[in-house]
Amino acid sequence: MTSPHPKFNIAPSILSADFARLGDEVKNVIAAGADWIHFDVMDNHYVPNLTFGPMICQALKPHAKTPAGVAVPIDVHLMISPVDALAASFADAGADYISFHPDASAHVHRSIQAIKSKGVKAGLVFNPAEPLDVLEWTIDEIDLILIMSVNPGFGGQSFIDSALRKVELARQWIERSGKDIRLEVDGGIKPDNIRQVADAGADTFVAGSAIFGKPDYKAVVDQMRVALA
Ligand code: DX5
Ligand code: ZN
Repeated sequence: MTSPHPKFNIAPSILSADFARLGDEVKNVIAAGADWIHFDVMDNHYVPNLTFGPMICQALKPHAKTPAGVAVPIDVHLMISPVDALAASFADAGADYISFHPDASAHVHRSIQAIKSKGVKAGLVFNPAEPLDVLEWTIDEIDLILIMSVNPGFGGQSFIDSALRKVELARQWIERSGKDIRLEVDGGIKPDNIRQVADAGADTFVAGSAIFGKPDYKAVVDQMRVALA
């Protein structure tokens, strides 16, 4: 199913899906109009929660396509430390984007290289209290900036408003770079605040509980598209 607004990507986070039926959940949310599948990897070390690894990504890869057979990108968000070895495993498992938290890597540039050397798009993720300074030395290397609008580790938290100002700053960084970099926001996004996040400059929206917590995924995705239109 093609997005009627290709400028904007809606990326449902399977963190809030039914883990006993993950393949079907991925298929259903794509049929409902998802543009990307957001895959939250937690290690009980960098964040106080534990989710899934590269084997689950590999198992889901064949399900990440539209009913017409068009591949839907898998957007891996690593909340792990260290980064490089597992990033390489996720690349082998079929990830299309791999993003990590710069404060989780001792060598941020090397971690970006580890991802890009596998032919995968690389992203940097910024926690609510973290500045964007590292972009000064990395923006020419990356394909995605992910602004956290909650503290990483759990779905279903409330949107932190200061993230909007950070999204505005990140958009300025992207414009100055002249590069085609996606600007994604993660946490607490719902149909009633997605427009505000887009107006701040975001083009890609992660939503977990807002979609998987509801009986009709398409109704929620459609509401988000109407808000973005
Ligand atoms: C939090 C994760 C998010 C989470 C968002 O650490 O990175 O992707 O699933 O969940 P909601 O949309 O419920 O805030
Ligand atoms: Zn995430």
